[in-house]
Parts: sequence; structure tokens; C-alpha cells
Amino acid sequence: MIFAAAVFGQGIELPVPQKTGGTPVFDAMSGRLSTKAFTEKEVPLQALSTILWSAYGFNREDKRVIPTPLNKQHLSVYVFLKDAVYLYDAKTNKLIKKADGDHRKLVGMQDYVFSAPVNLLYMADNTAGMGSATPISVGCAAQDVYLACGSLGLGCVVRTGGVSENAAELRKVLKLTNRDEPIAAQTIGYAKKTEDAKKN
Ligand SMILES: Cc1cc2nc3c(=O)[nH]c(=O)nc-3n(C[C@H](O)[C@H](O)[C@H](O)COP(=O)(O)O)c2cc1C
Repeated sequence: MIFAAAVFGQGIELPVPQKTGGTPVFDAMSGRLSTKAFTEKEVPLQALSTILWSAYGFNREDKRVIPTPLNKQHLSVYVFLKDAVYLYDAKTNKLIKKADGDHRKLVGMQDYVFSAPVNLLYMADNTAGMGSATPISVGCAAQDVYLACGSLGLGCVVRTGGVSENAAELRKVLKLTNRDEPIAAQTIGYAKKTEDAKKN
């Protein structure tokens, strides 16, 4: 287990996320890019907490950093690490363990997915009835993660490839129901400084 100090029962206590400061927003936008080659270096828990807050944390008592249609808040964010899969619980700021083992192969097809230390999976509750509005919220989360990663010195790429293709196996491993709909994934880690990193 990589985050031994923070482990509780079946999960991980996240440190308080960074909610202020960082790279000025226009500088972060100017530097935004997709990374497609990663080192295996672990992402510090502090950075992971900040990234998850950027994606789907609360910035008001009951509202999120990202907008959702009709404030449905019908997304969830799964975190695929080398040793297990977790569900981000923004209210308690914890990762709830959902499955043991390395399941990164279920959230992508490209090689970099399987060696990068963190992959997020954005899931929607399709009973919210938000249809085509749902991916817009996921896009907002993904863009926040791009900007947060840039500010934290990390690379990332949002992906749809390999997500729906693996949905059946994902359902088994994460014990999902028919209402859970995987929308997109996002790979996160330290960029490898090679020519691969520039491939798109
Ligand atoms: C909705 C969406 C789906 C994407 N899916 C993939 C994917 O499956 N695999 C991948 O390597 N990149 C994927 N990308 C990243 C794009 O390849 C990348 O954004 C594009 O090449 C432009 O590069 P940039 O992000 O550095 O500007 C996706 C991007 C978006 C917005």
C-alpha cells in the first residue's frame, strides 16, 4: 500500500486539498496540454486530494467545484491506483476502497494507461435523466483536472478510448448497477520527458 500513513479500514483519508493559490488561471490555460507518456513515480497524496477536489469536490456547503445540469450532482469519480480502485467521497474527503488489485487495464487501451500511477474514471448515474448534458459536466471536471495538474507539475490526459469497451468487466469488478454509466477516464502522473510525450 503506497499511502500507509493515511490508510483507514477500507480506504484512504485524504489530506485537506489546496483550494487557493497555485498557477494563475490564465497561465494555467496557456500551459494546458495532454500528456501521453508517464513515469511510474507515485502522485503524492496531497496532490491527489487537490486534483480530486478540482474534479468533483465541494466549493460551497452543498455545491460542487464543477457545474452539473439542474444541480443533479449525478457523477462519481473512481480512482484507479496500482493496488486498488477507490471511490472519491468528497464530503468526507476519503477514498473508499471498491476493489483490490491493479485494474488499470479496465479504464483504457493505450499502454501509458497501465503504467501511469493514477487513472480517474468519471461515472454518471443515468437515472438522473440528464442525457447529453452529462458529458458537459465531465468535461468541466476534466478541464479542472488539467489546470490543477499543470499547477502541481503533473501531466494528464482525458480519454474516452477503452472506457465503454471495458464496461462489462468494469461492472463486475466495481459491482456496478445498470444505472452506473462510465463516461470518460483521465490518466494522471509525472510526464516522461521523451518524444512520446508529444504524440497525440
Ligand atoms: C473527449 C475526448 C476524448 C479523448 N480520448 C482520448 C483517448 O481515448 N486517448 C488519448 O490518447 N487521448 C484522448 N484525448 C486527448 C486528445 O487526443 C488531445 O486532447 C488532443 O490530441 C489535443 O491535444 P492537447 O490536449 O494536448 O491539446 C481525448 C480528448 C477528448 C477531449
